[in-house]
Amino acid sequence: MNVGIIGSGTMGSGIAQVAATSGCKVKLYDTNQAALDKAKAALEKILNRLIEKGRIDEAEKKRIQNNIQYVDSLKNLSDANLTIEAIVENIEIKKKVFSELESYVSEDCIIASNTSSLSIASIAASLKNPKRCVGIHFFNPAPLMKLVEVIPAIQTSYETLEKAIDTIASWKKTVAVAKDTPGFIVNRVARPFYGEALRIYEEGLADFATIDHSLKTLGGFRMGPFELMDFIGNDVNYTVTETVFTAFYFDPRYKPAFTQKRFAEAGYLGRKSGIGYYEYDENGNKVEGDDVALRSVEGSLAQQIFDRVLVMLINEAADALFLNIASAEDIDNAMTKGVNYPKGLLAWADEKGIDWCVKKIDELYNEYHEDRYRCSPLLRKMNRENKTFF
Ligand code: NAI
Repeated sequence: MNVGIIGSGTMGSGIAQVAATSGCKVKLYDTNQAALDKAKAALEKILNRLIEKGRIDEAEKKRIQNNIQYVDSLKNLSDANLTIEAIVENIEIKKKVFSELESYVSEDCIIASNTSSLSIASIAASLKNPKRCVGIHFFNPAPLMKLVEVIPAIQTSYETLEKAIDTIASWKKTVAVAKDTPGFIVNRVARPFYGEALRIYEEGLADFATIDHSLKTLGGFRMGPFELMDFIGNDVNYTVTETVFTAFYFDPRYKPAFTQKRFAEAGYLGRKSGIGYYEYDENGNKVEGDDVALRSVEGSLAQQIFDRVLVMLINEAADALFLNIASAEDIDNAMTKGVNYPKGLLAWADEKGIDWCVKKIDELYNEYHEDRYRCSPLLRKMNRENKTFF
């Protein structure tokens, strides 16, 4: 299979590695020669590291490298069966590139976008044949993250969707099919992990380290919300939240937090700037341990923090199912394979009990009387009917 990738930045170069490893002939295109050179050098480094770890041998390295051609003209992608665009997140620029690309490729070439926040329908509309357009959304780093969201636009043909799913599955990725709505699955369902943690902090209930500690020890999350926001970057994470909030017509459930806005404005971006909610050394390691502050955390406070964040996540996952954003299996797979949650949220809801979930979320609503804490109608209905998700 011939694959054309447009944009050789973080995502494009990672996707190229995935496709080339699976035996596809890849052409990686960028307008910026320096970006192409950087992608090539980065791949060499990654493959050398894999050799050191004994995961691949020299022949495999050569095979992967020989499967990727670095090209500086869009015309070079004319023999592609599938193209995946991973350029700057700007609808006007993407549309221009898509309509030019369509003039070079064959009629049955699938034209996909890796966009995180734009609608696939709006991108597809730039094509003469929008039926061939689909969203194929990888997670960073693409070679390591198992999940890929595949998003059909309302224009996408069934054939295009099927081909996209089959191709991505053949690249040994887990596919979750998502409706063309803001944040797709992961970037929507994960919002309360950050948002509720920030809210708990803003109410003065606990500090960053205590909140992180609660979610890690009681929930089994690999990183706490503040550690994760520092890792992602407060600028990037804040922008995703604000984009989702705006795209949902200002639904209070997705409301961004001033705390994070101020951190982003101050340049306290996290790991990459040396300071965020925590301090980092030049190697990106946290400077201070969080143990001292945590020895005095009361068990009941930790439980209260964990329950509150978890129930908000479960409510979001349930509401995504209620609104047919994806199947229950795909919603749970998305969170375990896209952001490494210890369990799928719907399976977690079953484990806790739907009655527990409804009670907890109603307690929050009764306390605050904010729409943010409204219980998903699906959870309420399931509770009435004594049902479980699986
Ligand atoms: P990046 O900034 O690392 O790379 C973008 C590349 O596109 C650059 O090398 C740039 O030179 C090139 N480019 C810009 N305009 C171009 C054009 N007209 N033609 C060809 N090349 C062009 O960006 P990144 O992070 O790789 O993101 C790319 C896309 O992937 C965006 O749509 C983003 O929303 C999406 N995405 C990003 C994720 C992330 O964690 N960074 C995760 C999932 C999706």
